Amino acid sequence: MTDDWRQDIHLEPKKGWINDPNGLCYFDGRYHVYFQFSPDSAAGEGRKCWGHFESRDDMKSFDYTGIVFEPDIPEDRSGVFSGSAVIREGKMHIFYTGNVEIPGDYDYVTAGREANQIHVVTDDGITMGAKKVILRNSDYPSNMSCHVRDPKVWIEDGKWKMVLGARTLDDEGGILFYEADDPDEWHFVKFLSKKDFGYMWECPDLFNVGDKWFLGMSPQGVPHEEFRFQNVYSAGYFKYSDGALEGSFEEYDYGFDFYAPQTFIDKNGDRLIIGWMGIGDIPYSNPTTELGWQHCLTVPRKLNVGEDGCLIQTPVVNYEGGEMPLTESAPVFPYALHADIDDGNSYFDIRIGGAKISCSKGIASLEFEGDEGCGRTIRKAVIGACKDITVIADKSSLELFWNGGRYVMSSRFYPDSAAPVVKATGCGLKIRKITKTEVRGFE
Ligand code: FRU
Repeated sequence: MTDDWRQDIHLEPKKGWINDPNGLCYFDGRYHVYFQFSPDSAAGEGRKCWGHFESRDDMKSFDYTGIVFEPDIPEDRSGVFSGSAVIREGKMHIFYTGNVEIPGDYDYVTAGREANQIHVVTDDGITMGAKKVILRNSDYPSNMSCHVRDPKVWIEDGKWKMVLGARTLDDEGGILFYEADDPDEWHFVKFLSKKDFGYMWECPDLFNVGDKWFLGMSPQGVPHEEFRFQNVYSAGYFKYSDGALEGSFEEYDYGFDFYAPQTFIDKNGDRLIIGWMGIGDIPYSNPTTELGWQHCLTVPRKLNVGEDGCLIQTPVVNYEGGEMPLTESAPVFPYALHADIDDGNSYFDIRIGGAKISCSKGIASLEFEGDEGCGRTIRKAVIGACKDITVIADKSSLELFWNGGRYVMSSRFYPDSAAPVVKATGCGLKIRKITKTEVRGFE
């Protein structure tokens, strides 16, 4: 297989490695999707930059406009790390972390690393103003390690607010809160953490859906369980009210490949989320690496709040026509499969090539029985009675939305055909074709 694993509806680089989505926003009639980009290496080595896609037609097509930030000042010389964008008075304000690894005999956790938060203003999302350092290691509380990063900034009641992911010197993950009247002058507000919940929280995101608030993050070091935290690192959220975390941590996604998501507001005022369909330090592989590129982003998903107060995710894709009964046993990617389940407690399974999607007695699973998973085996989630499932299938990925999107599983897989055989046992299937997302601008 060669280019047949190139995705049709998921953003990915032509060459090199992509990780976190950054600076997601709608500005001046365009959607902007920046991303962590290693242009020199499909394994993620070398320069860590921000690449940029923009869409002028509601994300039906994108233009890749190139690299907008590369490590070119002393304060970001080891990498332009993750960050976010805010629109204020006709300008886009970008905040990101400049990573600096000082050569020497350091552990790079307690010493040897600078975490500089940097502010840049742009009028068009492409031509960037000067990089201005707004926070340095010396500005963080004294019990912070050198790992402080990934500013997510928003404006609330006229005030600029920022959350930063952090690791304390006691190996406790948490979030630093800052506030500002002027986006170059930040004041520390508080540190928020949860006992025994990982050593580092990356990519925080404090956001509202209607009048409900959530604190999203990607924790590292949470012990694995049979039905939760199955991956090397996790991504999810707490409900957030009166300045405190409420209830238990909910994972955004139970698949093999999901990390470091970011939310943003679309032009209709709805909140969308896009994740990295990948994770660092995974024990499975992606064979496109040998072909020169690795990883992609998820499709955007609209967020709503369900009856239990948890988030519901609905994929935002461009459907071609309505739902039809599945008549061809080997449909060509990209498409959506949907099944309404009559008896939510009885067994059913759906097979797409060697991928087996099944649910039995309230436990949903995604399993790769052959080698299409490239080391991926099984992921499970306790979902209760299954009412329905929608699968967004692209040339090398599956995104599963269980029970209207209350539970989600995203995974890469590498079938040897662009039209693997689809079979269902114990349920009927409907199909909707999805229009390919054209991406222009790759040389
Ligand atoms: C998450 C992350 C971020 C960091 C970026 C570097 O995947 O580790 O914390 O800013 O990737 O590429």
